[in-house]
Amino acid sequence: MNVLEVEGLHTYYGKSHILHGVSLVVPEGKIVALLGRNGAGKSTTLRSIIGLTPPREGAIRVFGHATTHWAPDQIAGLGLGYVPEGRRIFPNLTVEENLLVPMARPGPWTVRRVFESFPRLAERKSNKGSQLSGGEQEMLAIARTLMLNPKILALDEPSQGLAPLIVREVFNIVTEARKEGVSVLLVEQNVRATVAIADHAYVLDNGSIVYSGPAAEFAKDEQRVRALAGASAEKWEMED
Ligand SMILES: Nc1ncnc2c1ncn2[C@@H]1O[C@H](COP(=O)(O)OP(=O)(O)O)[C@@H](O)[C@H]1O
Ligand SMILES: [Mg+2]
Repeated sequence: MNVLEVEGLHTYYGKSHILHGVSLVVPEGKIVALLGRNGAGKSTTLRSIIGLTPPREGAIRVFGHATTHWAPDQIAGLGLGYVPEGRRIFPNLTVEENLLVPMARPGPWTVRRVFESFPRLAERKSNKGSQLSGGEQEMLAIARTLMLNPKILALDEPSQGLAPLIVREVFNIVTEARKEGVSVLLVEQNVRATVAIADHAYVLDNGSIVYSGPAAEFAKDEQRVRALAGASAEKWEMED
């Protein structure tokens, strides 16, 4: 069963035509990666799905509901959690206060569970958001969304600007969420780290999907990675 189905999206910012017929699916309990270079349209795809920038053409179904023109809060209400780019946590609230901001929905993720799973956040629970490192802020942003106990988690470049070791820690959270049955749409430029945890990979270029296949296969084809993933392929080289 697919928890998310996206079909033929055409999304615009004013007169700029950004997405040219983007289609993708997220099967239940899987991690689906949406890769692509800077400016490819990854964030726009996420914004279309979560209702912030609705498409002008195309269809979106969340758990079978035709949500294409629903408001963001209605879509979120179906259990779609979104972690935006750039870790928008509250800098003046403590870690614990940040976690208590969302109206938590019942489920496995509670403040206690977050602190058990992310000892780093537990150590910092009385620190203000502004005192956290980039990696800790990203963990907090993800943990805060997990407090909504989403059934689908959509993440926009969680690894951005983080050291490889921290990326691994952040991605561990994502795989842990999958273990709880959460389905994940992971938007990334960090190809290597992403294909290591993803089940399926899509590559977006210039507003169109140019590759779709098992993540493991994509990972093996380094030439394809370099050709399609642009900037992130350089990262691949650097980390080897
Ligand atoms: N608010 C906006 N208004 C106009 N153009 C935008 C806006 N946001 C993004 N774009 C353009 O849309 C294209 C896709 O951007 P985006 O979806 O953010 O790409 P990605 O997330 O893959 O880096 C880029 O060319 C970008 O300049
Ligand atoms: Mg983006």
